[in-house]
Amino acid sequence: MTKENIQALVNQLTLEEKAAFCAGKDFWRLVSCPRLSIPEVMVSDGPHGLRAQKKAQDNLGINDSIEAVCFPAGCATGSSFDRNLVKEIGSAIGTEAQAVDLSVVLGPAMNIKRSPLCGRNFEYISEDPLLAGDLAAALIEGIQSKNIGTSPKHFAANSQEYHRMSNSSNIDERTLREIYLANFERAVKKAQPWTIMNSYNKINGTYTCEDKWLLTDVLRDEWGYQGLVETDWGAMDNRVAALKAGCDLEMPGPGDNRQAIIDAVQNGMLSEEILDISVARILDLIFKYTENRETSAVFDYEKDHALAAKAAEQCLVLLKNDDAILPLKTTQKAAFIGQYAQKPRYQGGGSSHINSFRVESALEAAAELIPEASVTYARGFDDSVDTVDPVLIAEAAEAARAADIAVVFAGLPDSYESEGYDRTHLRMPMGQEMLIEAVAAANPNTVVVLHNGSAIEMPWLGKVKGVLEAYLGGQAVGRAEIRILYGMANPSGRLAESFPLRLEDTPCYLDFGGEDDEIRYSEGVFVGYRYYTSRNMPVLFPFGYGLSYTDFAYSDLRVSAEAIRESEPLTVSVDVTNTGNRAGAEVVQLYVGAKGRKPNGIIRPVRELRGFDKVYLEPGETRTVTFTLDSRAFAVWNTTLHDWYVDTREYTVEICANAFDVLLSAPVTVTGEKVIPYTYTMNSIVGRLMHDPKGAAILENLKEVFGGGEPAPEGEDSAVSSEMAMAMMEGMPLRSLPGFVDSIKKPMLEQLIDMLNADS
Ligand code: BGC
Repeated sequence: MTKENIQALVNQLTLEEKAAFCAGKDFWRLVSCPRLSIPEVMVSDGPHGLRAQKKAQDNLGINDSIEAVCFPAGCATGSSFDRNLVKEIGSAIGTEAQAVDLSVVLGPAMNIKRSPLCGRNFEYISEDPLLAGDLAAALIEGIQSKNIGTSPKHFAANSQEYHRMSNSSNIDERTLREIYLANFERAVKKAQPWTIMNSYNKINGTYTCEDKWLLTDVLRDEWGYQGLVETDWGAMDNRVAALKAGCDLEMPGPGDNRQAIIDAVQNGMLSEEILDISVARILDLIFKYTENRETSAVFDYEKDHALAAKAAEQCLVLLKNDDAILPLKTTQKAAFIGQYAQKPRYQGGGSSHINSFRVESALEAAAELIPEASVTYARGFDDSVDTVDPVLIAEAAEAARAADIAVVFAGLPDSYESEGYDRTHLRMPMGQEMLIEAVAAANPNTVVVLHNGSAIEMPWLGKVKGVLEAYLGGQAVGRAEIRILYGMANPSGRLAESFPLRLEDTPCYLDFGGEDDEIRYSEGVFVGYRYYTSRNMPVLFPFGYGLSYTDFAYSDLRVSAEAIRESEPLTVSVDVTNTGNRAGAEVVQLYVGAKGRKPNGIIRPVRELRGFDKVYLEPGETRTVTFTLDSRAFAVWNTTLHDWYVDTREYTVEICANAFDVLLSAPVTVTGEKVIPYTYTMNSIVGRLMHDPKGAAILENLKEVFGGGEPAPEGEDSAVSSEMAMAMMEGMPLRSLPGFVDSIKKPMLEQLIDMLNADS
């Protein structure tokens, strides 16, 4: 429907009707208006499958939803580093939504993983904004290609569950821009979602639903967002303030804010034009969906289950493979140990919980895919109780002893991580850790397959030969596990988050959780690998890490220029060869770093991900992977300009195996084109003049006066070395110079300041 037609409809609505449109009809449906033939539409969670509740409704996944397909959760798809795969999942979900008549899928969930403790990390994609933003964009593109809306969430800075509805994420401007908004910015600019869901929390003291800076100045005016903003379920605070800020739709509805809107318009506190804009956005969404209905769409359960299996296969991350213990051979006698072999943990709890029409366990998949193999099973632990069961452990050790290979299917139980609360530690249940130790003691050929939504500590790592991270891999995870364990597929996932050695190493360890609902993000931009690499701190497994059954070699890194201006693009190419004897996919990772720090310069991470691509290679095959970098690859957010700023300097373009492992690098000098305004005063230091071209020229002319002559002879016991004199001069405010240099007088400095501040 055209803008004009929507406006014509808005014009025919009464004030009461308009106010009604600004909240849901109920938990999942929007308001309709039969009088004007405005139909009713329904929305549903998301993000990794449909949770359509056609009957009893809630936002925490308590009541049953329709049977659907559970694709791998965000923690797993993040590790795929595969835009095409995520888009394919999105388009399958879009078709499903058409088939069951849902207008919007509430996802992707894309908050930054600030700490592995966040209970909802299993839904989120990454600790890195570029990866999170690109994969979110891929999901949006896939779903919206079927004319179903999306709702990237939770906008923004919602990186913990504890008191999510009342806490304030207190974040400096640069960190917000570079980390906690950059992911949404990418997704919005690349994929134009139909809706965005604002988060529950406040940012720097303002609830996001009533933050005009966030919802209008940044999201709409700067990024060009066209769709509507809806609240997270129950996130509304002051309805009128929220409308003014740009929050269009309150969910769920109807709530009791209608009268407040009507009153505000009637008493002049809210302009009816603002209300009209929000209503128009809501009608636009309704018609975008209803006018593009595909009533013939079919929810093809089997096909989508197969896609869920294929997807999981491309997400799993091989973390350890000593003595090439994997892939296993069907001739080996295997003992599958641990309840997750029979009943995998494949999704998280809360609003994303899907009523899967089928779940395929590793044991079932083994019976189908490798019927010739001898596979025994011992339960090992009971997921529903957090106790050590010595009987189950003893049975498991016995089974391991009787086999050639022991595969322990372990992880975190539902009760350990969920929407609504955070973890308090990074350990697995003690019963499972003891199980792994006992099995590894009984059989040195032990492999662990992990089912968890976020990083864990692995005190047992040294005792096992193999570790396969399956994350929460969706309903077909068991099939993917068997195909990878037995070499029918080659693992190609890479960690989208760092695994620290211990919780205490995490950058926000001291601040996570907050104090009196105020959360200080004092680690700044140093989130995840940005912190560990900059501190050169060992981690258990770094961001970007993952093994393959084949080997890849990189060669011939080429950059289109050794020096560019900020406005010029830089093309980077590298050749990747599969040097092993199995086909496999490699994740090519490009980082940009700025070596060393200029005096008084910008403090920045040693490297940041600026590009990635996943390439599939047959044995012996070589492919050239090309990236185009624009100024954002080199920029930081400048808080004087309130804009992106490229510092003139040498940068390194690095091709890495993971955030720590640089394989190839090339220097590039980038000349920035923006000037940060600065006004000199008597308190400006001499060093600032030295590093400012105009100041340096003036200093050169005044060399004699400023002591640029011969240094004083340095005796053996001289108290002031020339280095020290230089350093002291560098840091000296102009106002202090007359006290040290006789020839410098205040009027002269004032004249100097005038010259420096004059427009050149
Ligand atoms: C969650 C959202 C979800 C909504 C509806 C909220 O509790 O934070 O992610 O989409 O409920 O279920």
